[in-house]
Order: sequence, then C-alpha cells, then structure tokens
Amino acid sequence: MATLRAPRGTRDLLPDERALFAHLMRTGADLATRYGYQQIETPMFEQAAVFERGIGEVTDVVEKELFRIAPRTEESESWALRPEPTAGMVRAYVQHGMQTWPQPVKLTMTGPMFRYDRPQAGRYRQFWQFDVEAIGDPGPAVDAEIIELGLRFYRDAGVAGVEVLVNSIGDPECRPAYTQALTEYYRRHAAALPPTERDRLERNVLRLLDSKDPAMAELNETAPRITEHLCDACAAHFEAVKAHLTAVGVPFRVESALVRGLDYYTRTAFEFYVAGREGQQQALGGGGRYDGLVQLLGGRPTPGIGFGLGLDRVALVLAEQGSVASRETGPLAVVVGADPHDTVTRLRIATELRTAGLRVRADLGRRKLGRQLEAAGREGAHFAVILGDELSAGQVQVRDLLAGTQRIVAADDLARELARAEASHRHG
Ligand code: HAM
Repeated sequence: MATLRAPRGTRDLLPDERALFAHLMRTGADLATRYGYQQIETPMFEQAAVFERGIGEVTDVVEKELFRIAPRTEESESWALRPEPTAGMVRAYVQHGMQTWPQPVKLTMTGPMFRYDRPQAGRYRQFWQFDVEAIGDPGPAVDAEIIELGLRFYRDAGVAGVEVLVNSIGDPECRPAYTQALTEYYRRHAAALPPTERDRLERNVLRLLDSKDPAMAELNETAPRITEHLCDACAAHFEAVKAHLTAVGVPFRVESALVRGLDYYTRTAFEFYVAGREGQQQALGGGGRYDGLVQLLGGRPTPGIGFGLGLDRVALVLAEQGSVASRETGPLAVVVGADPHDTVTRLRIATELRTAGLRVRADLGRRKLGRQLEAAGREGAHFAVILGDELSAGQVQVRDLLAGTQRIVAADDLARELARAEASHRHG
C-alpha cells in the first residue's frame, strides 16, 4: 500500500510545536484584547467572489494560489478556501450591518489560511495568521497604533531584531498617474519581462513590483516610485503616520518599493522583517490600509486598516534564533500502583483528583511499579501518587519526584495536599 503522508506544503504541528503555536496565539489574543479588539470567527471557505473581488483577480493570490473547492453537487456557487482573513472579515462586516455599530469596529482572528504556493521553508499551503482589523477609522493615528501593536507582538513572542518597513501606495486620486508612469517604464523594457509579467503589464502593472520572479529584481530596482507621485492628501496622511510612529517610539524605515501583493491596499502599507532578511519571501507579517474594500464588497464607503502576521514564520525565526520553545509542563502528578493489575483503583483516584481540578495522569498499563515511576519522572511530573498496601488503611504514598522525598498522606486529604504543594511550588 502506498505510504500516506500529509499533503505537500502542509505539516503536522507535533506537540512541542503546537505548544509554541498555542503560546503565540495566546500572546496575540491577549495583546489584541488589551488594544480593544474583539474576537471574530469567519468560515475557512467563502464564495470565491469574496476573494476575487476583494483581493483582486490579477494577483498571485487569486490567479495562481487560490484553492478552489469543487462542489459535490450542481450548485451555482463557487467556493474557495480563504487565502487570508481580511476579505472574509470585511464581508462579515457588511453582511451583519456592522457599519451601524460604534466605529471603528476592531476585530481580531487567528487561524489557518490556504494558498497553493510552491512550498519551501516558510512558505506553506496551509499556514497560520494572527490578524487584526480596525474598520471605520480613516487614520492616521490608528495606522501607527496598529504598526506598534504588530511590533509589540514580535517582542512579546520573543523574536529579536524585527524591523518595520512602511510606505504609502496612494489612493484612487493619485495612483492612476503613477500606474501610467509605471506602465510606460515597463513597456520600454518589455523584451526583458518574463511572460506572466508581460501579460500583467496591461492588466495590473502594480503587481509587477511585487513579482517573485528573480528576473524582475533588477528592473524593479529602477522602476518609478509611488512616493514621488502621491497627491497632497496622501502625502499629508503618510507624514502624519510617520509622526505618530515616532511619537510612540516605533523605529521604521521608509521603503518606497513596498507595494504589497493584494489589490485592496490604499495609502499606508507596511511589512515586518527580521533585520537583514528583507525580500518578498521572508516577511514575518504585513498589512495596510484598505479604504475601498468595504465598498468593493457591497458596503458603504468605509476606511479600514489591519495586518496579518505569519505564525509559521515566527516559529521558524524563533528556532533559528535558538529561542526555546515553550513546552507544556508535565502533569502535576502521576497515579501509579504497586499491583500491576489494579487499574481500577488508579483510574478512580486519578478521576477524583481531576474532579478537584488537578493536572493528573494515571498509569493505566500493566507494567511493574518501577517502570511506572520511571515514566513519571521522564515526563517531568512533580509527584507520584503510589497506591499500595496502605490503601486498606485509607492512605497513599506521595513521592516528590523533584525533591526525592516520600511521605504517607490520607487518601481523603490527597487532593488538598497536592493542590497546596503545587501552589507553594508555583509561588515559592
Ligand atoms: P500577506 O502579506 O499576504 O497579507 O500575508 C501576511 C503574512 O502571512 C505574511 O507576511 C507571511 O508572514 C504570512 N504568509 C503569507 N503566505 C504564506 C505562506 N504561503 N506560508 C507561510 N506564511 C505565509 C495578508 O494576508 C493581508 N490579509 C494582511 C492584512 C490584514 N492587510 C490588512 N489587513
């Protein structure tokens, strides 16, 4: 029989890494709460139009990377797995009339995203994002607040040396003149363009700037910069974002070639990198303002801004930086027994301790006591509760595996004693 494996570009998060992910998700959720964001959950698949319209038809994410779902029946709807959360969250904002809520509506979500990308380190077909969106605030202060929040996430997660790159990519007022200049520039170099990019030149020229094709790097280096074409309103907005960033002590670098890979962006765009590792493949996270997206998805004109931070890349960088993954701690106690066959009593005592709220494993195998104790030590348990002859007198032995001491405890007092020992250990 053929060996069964996880699909290419996906991976299993084994317990150690899953514990790190849980820690990252908690860090993100706690931070977002502190900044006034509320949790939301949207489906992992949407009508494909949510992404086609929201992210843009002529983007890598939609054109090449969308996981489309083939319906099992003749349904008229066409669905796709979400490649990112923003479009779905904005769809939910419109669908549930959130424009009537106090503005801005600040939402956060963390979960798996799906892109049919060419898999490599840090680029997966299923990956996790921590996302925040502030919908209904035109900025510029909230732009800086969100960037500061992103940076704080990396700091709290323990990633060293994260740098913020910021840019303004204009709005419908000034972008047409810029895209015209850009189109003329690439037309002059049409012969050097790879086929996909030549095809995109007339359809969505901005996407040439964030092309992953190495052949484009040199051409993009000398392409016209949006920052030289900003209208007065966009330029003033960008200056104000920078002033707010400075006021909250966020160091940043203006990167005028930064345009992001999704069509919905206007004005502020930003990305997070480990310093010295810039390059499209390595962004730890990114985001920006999308003042046209709500309207594009059927709502009233409403500004918005947010970010998505890639948790898989954070995990990779933490490993590279030699940061120890936060392992879940072992059980407080393991219930072991001198009689290899008496699993009934072990299970009963363990159940009572769990009912009392304690973290307890029961050794339910038929192995000898020595083996049971060895296993308890290996998994980092603090105590072994040893069931033996004393049980007939209503007592058990409690061995402190860390201190190497042992004493007799009345079975009725066991839960209280263990809870007290754990509390003094935690605070001591
Ligand atoms: P994005 O730049 O496409 O933006 O993705 C955000 C982050 O997700 C990236 O910086 C990266 O860390 C991670 N990421 C993207 N693709 C992959 C992949 N194939 N494998 C692993 N990690 C990946 C967005 O998705 C926007 N929704 C961000 C946003 C929110 N803008 C406004 N609000």
